Amino acid sequence: MTTKKGQGGKRRGRFIVLEGIDGAGTTSQLRHVVEWLERRGELVHATREPTDGPIGLMLRQVLRGRIVATPGQARGEAKKEPLDPAAVALLFAADRLDHLHNEIVPQLEAGRHVVCDRYVLSSLAYQSLETDLRFVRNINEKALAPDLTIFLRVRAEVAMARIEGSRTHKEVFEQLPLQKRVAAAYEKLLESYRDGEVVILDGEEEMSMVTSRVRGTLERIF
Ligand SMILES: Nc1ncnc2c1ncn2[C@@H]1O[C@H](COP(=O)(O)OP(=O)(O)O)[C@@H](O)[C@H]1O
Ligand SMILES: [Mg+2]
Repeated sequence: MTTKKGQGGKRRGRFIVLEGIDGAGTTSQLRHVVEWLERRGELVHATREPTDGPIGLMLRQVLRGRIVATPGQARGEAKKEPLDPAAVALLFAADRLDHLHNEIVPQLEAGRHVVCDRYVLSSLAYQSLETDLRFVRNINEKALAPDLTIFLRVRAEVAMARIEGSRTHKEVFEQLPLQKRVAAAYEKLLESYRDGEVVILDGEEEMSMVTSRVRGTLERIF
C-alpha cells in the first residue's frame, strides 16, 4: 500500500473499515485493531457509522422507530409509518459526507489512522434492500475509498444468536429474515466491490482466532 503525504508533509494515516452484518463482531474487532495499532506506537482514531454527529444521531432515532412519517396527517389521520427508504439512504449518505469532512479526512491528514465501524458497503447492503442499488451508489459517489476493508463473514443465524445473547433493545435490522437478506446482499456486493483492499475473514471462529487473523492482516499491511 502506498504512503500518501498529507498537506503539512506529515505521513497521511490509513483508513480502515470493518464491515459485516449485525452481530458479525465489527465493534469487538475494532477495539482490537485500535489496541494493536496503539501498541505499535501509531496514532489512531476510532469512529463509527451512523456517527455520533447530528445526522447520525437522527439516523439512530429513525432506526429505532422514534422518528416516523405521518403521511395521513393532511387528511386528519394519525397513521404513522417508517420514513421513505430513499430518504433514509440520503441521511446515511449525508451523515457519511459530514463524517468525512468533519472528522475522517482531518484525522487522516493529521497523520492518524482512522478505524471505522461500518461505511459505504453497509449502505449498499442495507439500503439497497428497500431502494435501488444504483441510487445508493450514486449518492455515495463522493465518499473517500478506504485503504482497507475487513469483512467479517458470519451467517445470519450465528449473528442473531449472538445478538439475542447480548442486547436488550432491537434495532429494525436485527431480525433473522432481514439479516439473511443483508448477508446475501453483502456477498453479492463483495463480488465486485473494489474500493481499496478488501479482506474477507471467517467471523464465525472463536473471538481470539478472529482477532489473530485481523492482526495477521494488519501485520501484512503495516
Ligand atoms: N468471534 C466471536 N465469537 C463469539 N462471539 C462473538 C464473536 N465476536 C463477537 N462476539 C459477540 O457477539 C456480540 C456482538 O458482537 P459485536 O462486536 O457487538 O458485533 P457487531 O458490532 O458486528 O454487531 C457480542 O456479545 C460479542 O461479544
Ligand atoms: Mg457494532
